[in-house]
Amino acid sequence: MLTFRGLDMIALPEAAALVAREHAVARSRRPRMPAAYTEPEHCRVALEKLLADGCIGVVAHGGQRCVGLMCGRTNDAVGFVPAHGLAVDPDLADATAVVVGLFAELAPILIRDGAVRFAIDHVDLDPLGAAFHNIGFGRGSVFAARPAGPTTTAIGVDIRIGTSDDLDSIAALSQIEFDHRSTPPIYATSTPRALNRTRELHERLLDDGAVHFLARRGGRDVGLLTLEFTSPAPRLCPNAGPHIGPTASHPAVRGEGIGRALVEVALDWADVGGHETVSVDFDSPNPLSRPFWLDLGFETMGYRVRRTIDASHAALAHADDQRGPEVHGSPISARPDESLDDPQPPRKTIGDRTSRRGNSSHAE
Ligand SMILES: CC(C)(COP(=O)(O)OP(=O)(O)OC[C@H]1O[C@@H](n2cnc3c(N)ncnc32)[C@H](O)[C@@H]1OP(=O)(O)O)[C@@H](O)C(=O)NCCC(=O)NCCS
Repeated sequence: MLTFRGLDMIALPEAAALVAREHAVARSRRPRMPAAYTEPEHCRVALEKLLADGCIGVVAHGGQRCVGLMCGRTNDAVGFVPAHGLAVDPDLADATAVVVGLFAELAPILIRDGAVRFAIDHVDLDPLGAAFHNIGFGRGSVFAARPAGPTTTAIGVDIRIGTSDDLDSIAALSQIEFDHRSTPPIYATSTPRALNRTRELHERLLDDGAVHFLARRGGRDVGLLTLEFTSPAPRLCPNAGPHIGPTASHPAVRGEGIGRALVEVALDWADVGGHETVSVDFDSPNPLSRPFWLDLGFETMGYRVRRTIDASHAALAHADDQRGPEVHGSPISARPDESLDDPQPPRKTIGDRTSRRGNSSHAE
């Protein structure tokens, strides 16, 4: 039988140990996964930070053992659980009961905080993925990684590193990616974004140290690959390592090797800079990006799964809230520290990457 309690300082060590144990199993299959999360102390510090940022956590026990953890918060109507806030005992052949129970405890709290959609990141372990499918979540984004170069293909394309003088080209190509992501069957972005806003976002990325590779052909800039140095999901993509952000080739030159050349130059650049791994995240329904990254040797580290809840549940939760505090009676629903009620939102960057591909990308 499963029992549930809130994640607090007492439950923190066993929850952290569970994340570390699950991560060790995932990493034995995917050696590119960040090593740090195999250490319980690292996981404990990461969980403590989530609580300090206003996340609410639930732990599950089966007998005496901690068998599950789910820890997240609501931001902009999205209930978001990062990969380092989620773990299920990797020895369980079927993780569904644990995931069902954890979500049943956490979701009402996040809904009361305004969530109508949920986004949960998880490592690529089969019982876990199947459990989320069983409770109605579907894949939205893939987090993937591969070794940095050196690559061997001859690069027959003129590629340079863009500067602030190139922001118009960078913005125009990034906009192509953003607009593409609103098309069927992806539907990852819904609100149009103005070109000047895309330009501002890349200006900020440049200031933050991002590297923009630009491909030129026939006197025109026709391809972009952005390397950022902030992980959208630190348990899945190494933090501070190169992470591929907005990438596009102009529709007129697609299928001519521009995209591959950009990736290979970026992999070589990362290798020369001493980085071992390059990561990326992309929308799983994107018919162009999925085969592109997988064919170029990127291996799946984890997924972002999504589920939408009928808005009437949020309205009901709100009505309950107005009726009085009796619904907040369980130790799970108590906030760890009401004074930390204005936490940092999950990272949002270019292209609304929390929803886009993971960042930043980002929770939605
Ligand atoms: C993804 C994208 C950047 C690829 O650029 P590209 O210049 O067409 O890529 P390339 O011509 O170098 O193709 C490289 C490889 O990708 C794969 N690929 C590219 N387009 C593909 C397609 N339509 N279907 C299947 N595989 C494809 C192939 O494996 C190809 O390998 P090959 O060189 O052995 O043929 C481009 O399609 C694009 O801009 N898409 C819209 C924006 C987008 O989705 N960006 C990625 C966001 S994560």
